[in-house]
Amino acid sequence: MQARDRLVVAADLSSRDELLRLVDELRGAVGVIKIGLQAFVANGPEIVREIVAGGEKVFLDLKIHDIPNTAEHAVAEAAALGASIITVHTSGGASMLRACAHPGALVLGVTILTSLDDAEVASVGYRGSAMESAVRLAAVAQAAGLRGVVASPHEIGAIRKACGDQFVILTPGIRPAGEAAGDQRRTMTPAEAVRAGADYIVVGRPITNAKSRREAALRIVDEMATSLPSAGG
Ligand code: C5P
Repeated sequence: MQARDRLVVAADLSSRDELLRLVDELRGAVGVIKIGLQAFVANGPEIVREIVAGGEKVFLDLKIHDIPNTAEHAVAEAAALGASIITVHTSGGASMLRACAHPGALVLGVTILTSLDDAEVASVGYRGSAMESAVRLAAVAQAAGLRGVVASPHEIGAIRKACGDQFVILTPGIRPAGEAAGDQRRTMTPAEAVRAGADYIVVGRPITNAKSRREAALRIVDEMATSLPSAGG
């Protein structure tokens, strides 16, 4: 995979026109467009169909978490829309994860949200630190047949060790040097995340709030390319 293919842009906008403008501005510069709850709730499944029809890869980040039957059918519908990557919550448990391991898409398990620190992780009842919880949940996801997880960049090394080289790790909580962290707590720069072994990085506001969003994306791809082991950007 080239550096560009590894950059996922979180298109966290409400208006269809703004979403399609962002996709146009980024065409050819990034690998995947992430449609999350904001864009999906505001526009419905049609926004996914439209972006896929325009030739882009879509990551539908709905973080599905429900009983196995409901979750399985939601994943199947997301795959039928043309989404290439789909998220489910690993805390839904092994049966839900097994039901969600759809062959037609890359189904990733969300481990611990990157906005949570150790204190919040403990306050909702997880045993151990954010890191320990994320590694445990990644192992549960792998055993249930998922091909990868979403995790903080700080957890990549430990998850790689537990789950091996073929396991896909996608990481949000990315902030280019000098950018505001906002509500993200456990962040890294794009270069650091790639060096740590991330397969995909997710970047939202540092691109969507930039004066030139295309330039911001291209800068991040360049930074990733120089950090890839093969320098294969
Ligand atoms: O704007 P920012 O770069 O913080 O966006 C990160 C994106 O990644 C958001 O769309 C958020 O929902 C998503 N995400 C996350 N942490 C996770 C899973 C997804 O920040 N564990």
